[in-house]
Amino acid sequence: MKKRRIIIDTDPGIDDALAILLALAEPRVTLEAITVTFGNCSLENAQKNALCILELARANQIPVARGAHRPLVQPLLLAPETHGTTGIGYANLPEPSLQIYPEPAVNLLIQKVMDNPGEITIIAIGPLTNIALAVRVEPDFAPAVGEIFIMGGAIRHDGNTTPLAEFNTFCDPHAAHIVFHSGMPITLVPLDVTYQVVFSSADRDRLLEIPSPLTRFISEATRFYMEFHNEYQQIDGCVINDPLALAVSYLPYLVETQELYVDVDISGGVSMGKTYADAYRLLKKEPNMRVALNVHPRKFMEYFLERMEWLAGEIGW
Ligand code: RIB
Ligand code: CA
Repeated sequence: MKKRRIIIDTDPGIDDALAILLALAEPRVTLEAITVTFGNCSLENAQKNALCILELARANQIPVARGAHRPLVQPLLLAPETHGTTGIGYANLPEPSLQIYPEPAVNLLIQKVMDNPGEITIIAIGPLTNIALAVRVEPDFAPAVGEIFIMGGAIRHDGNTTPLAEFNTFCDPHAAHIVFHSGMPITLVPLDVTYQVVFSSADRDRLLEIPSPLTRFISEATRFYMEFHNEYQQIDGCVINDPLALAVSYLPYLVETQELYVDVDISGGVSMGKTYADAYRLLKKEPNMRVALNVHPRKFMEYFLERMEWLAGEIGW
């Protein structure tokens, strides 16, 4: 079985952390690098959290490169109310001993992709600033990317950051615009499907049946995230967007996709960052991505829980 070689571009962030752990628990992928960006938390915290999560999972050999500290044009927006001031909720991890990769994220992205044309899959689960910069710095980057799976946008679903816009595309709509029109083979995993994937307190209690630093981390990180979802969105549990976007890259049966022309509003008004699909092809433009619009939520959650239980056993104490 050919493994999918992935780079995760991320703003860890609680659900990002779960996506990184899932990649480490999944035999069908090889996590080759992590590139971090601002978003759920500051770049400083995102960088530290990525290093800590790799150490927690004893995956010390994976390079973590430092990316954008703010959007291309928009003012910086973070999400402390959602992910906590550190970015990992109530979880506490020891200071990382791992060092950050010595070159910027854009360099690592371009180097990996250009050295392995058509072989690298990017899992983009934060604002798209790093990816947009790579597209603009190296003209041959986009044509050399194997595939890119993007957690972002809201097509027929309300926004979670403005009434219309999802967080990742709202944080940096100009970066999203560059990526959406880059010609890369894109699969979009929007709120339309991720909001059906709720990690519940019962799911958390199931993981806690395995005493382990990993399950304790997941429990403390998601405890904060659940409080946010309950208070702000009356959800009993928490929406784990990012692990679904990762899983779709090797378990395509989890979702149903449509080929659509999708754009993102950068006109600067009330719909800034809003993603929209031209379902009736009114704009006469060719589809630029596959969009996941239906999901099997409990199939995904059962898979996710089984993989976290396995990883907890692997890591031990
Ligand atoms: O809107 C949800 C997305 O924004 C997720 O990737 C979450 O981690 C934040 O980055
Ligand atoms: Ca994220």
